[in-house]
Amino acid sequence: MNVMSIIGNGGREASLRWKLEKEGVVFRENAPFVIIGPEQPIADGLTEHYKSMLKKVFAPTKLAGRLETSKLWAKQFMLRNDIPTARWNTYKRTAIADILDYNEQIPIVIKEDGLCGGKGVTVCKTLEEVLEAKELYRTNHFKSNSNKILLEDFLEGEEASCFVLTDGLDYKVLPYCQDHKRVGEGDTGPNTGGMGAYAPAPLITDELDFKIRREVIEPTLKGMQNEGIPYKGVLYIGLMIVEGEPYVIEYNVRFGDPECQVLMMLMESDLAPYMEACIEGHLRELQAPKFYEGSAITVCMCSGGYPEEYGKGFPISGLDSIDDPDVQIFHAGTEEVDGKCITTGGRVLNVTAKAETLKEAQDKVYKACKKIKWEKSFYRKDIGYKAL
Ligand code: AMP
Ligand code: GLY
Repeated sequence: MNVMSIIGNGGREASLRWKLEKEGVVFRENAPFVIIGPEQPIADGLTEHYKSMLKKVFAPTKLAGRLETSKLWAKQFMLRNDIPTARWNTYKRTAIADILDYNEQIPIVIKEDGLCGGKGVTVCKTLEEVLEAKELYRTNHFKSNSNKILLEDFLEGEEASCFVLTDGLDYKVLPYCQDHKRVGEGDTGPNTGGMGAYAPAPLITDELDFKIRREVIEPTLKGMQNEGIPYKGVLYIGLMIVEGEPYVIEYNVRFGDPECQVLMMLMESDLAPYMEACIEGHLRELQAPKFYEGSAITVCMCSGGYPEEYGKGFPISGLDSIDDPDVQIFHAGTEEVDGKCITTGGRVLNVTAKAETLKEAQDKVYKACKKIKWEKSFYRKDIGYKAL
């Protein structure tokens, strides 16, 4: 239990390691307890692989992972289990061009069924955008492994991310988060893996939390049990709140990146016992985990060009100048070369802060970001604006 391995090497995994090391967990390769961070290894069956080696694995099985790896399966699951979601229909890739030529419904959301590294969804607000998107889907631009496409009603509302730790029967809800997926300020420009996040999300009142538990979380976990594929691990439910009602936009079968960084900053209870209880099936015996009562925020510092092509190998300056104990920097795309920290990715650093209020946390985080630089680095200056 005190020796673990983590699969994955982004900012999410860095924050999990930071949190667990504080609790006395030691990390090494081939440990008896494995945490799988990203979705792809789950889709590839790594959970079963490690289980067959008698390891404890904090991740759902490949079959339960279909909640994320097939949007079509997830939609059919929601239909079977009466879980609120946008209306949808499904088509073969070969038919999608014709269907979209005759489509008059605006706005409309087009989704690849298969995993596309977070890029398979296009929200079209004009008919021109539909025509542009048509080519991308017809030619499988996003390299989906499925030949199915979904068309979905556009839901107008506010988004929130819900994270649930579960052993398949019982569950604990973590603070609700909001992330900023678009690259540009004011939520403009192309989608990214996430440019920043904060928690708790003031949008989710106690009344909404109650509805989300009854109408979304519980039917989801019960549905998975009834279908013989109990879900164990962390479930990430992307929600759209429309006129006070929660709808599921998507499921992910892992922690969000960068939402996890914010959650790890807030979590005061030890995480390891919850992970073990999720695997062993005794989550019910644990109380709700404790979280810092204030707010946390994370800002992704990125390489110029991201989410398209970007340069690598730039030395980062200013990392030693951060001395605020409420600020943590999680490395998402860096490498140590000759004692220097250099960039290796698009999302490079997750500068994360906590404070009594979101405004104070935001001030702290941006004070730190200003001190850190490399050639062509950039970050969004408005993370958290929706809540302020
Ligand atoms: P996903 O990859 O499923 O998270 O979708 C990416 C983004 O597209 C979401 O975060 C939403 O902002 C948006 N989106 C997806 N489905 C819908 C929908 N039915 N209505 C409105 N926006 C949506
Ligand atoms: N931050 C969004 C995600 O992890 O999918």
